[in-house]
Amino acid sequence: MDKIIWNKQFNVGIKKFDDDHKLLIDMVNDLLVANEESQDQATIVDKINNLIDHTKDHFRAEEQVMKKHNFPGLDDHYREHLKLLGELETFKRELDAKSSVNVEELSSFLTGWLLNHILTMDIAYTAFLYDKGVK
Ligand SMILES: [Fe+2]
Repeated sequence: MDKIIWNKQFNVGIKKFDDDHKLLIDMVNDLLVANEESQDQATIVDKINNLIDHTKDHFRAEEQVMKKHNFPGLDDHYREHLKLLGELETFKRELDAKSSVNVEELSSFLTGWLLNHILTMDIAYTAFLYDKGVK
């Protein structure tokens, strides 16, 4: 799978969230490299756990800001976050049970989800929050 390259159109215009998104993309890329280089399973599992933790933190941060400013799309956005976290939890359970990881599958799922989410849901809060002075 090809690495994801950051593109200007992914910018949501709020520095912290752009930095978070870049970091998450870097982490997915890093996971892909680790997989291609056949790094050991423990390292890969570590990277996946890290990625899940960062995703959770990032979602929490987005939700807090949306809530603080009464963003009208908060409920829908929150549901989308919950859905992804649920899928990640399922993946993690499978991982614990089988102790083998299909990194390609996970990465392509995450990449598709992340980019689609940034380009639709996240872009939707940009103008609203920007008007509230969130930068
Ligand atoms: Fe989001």
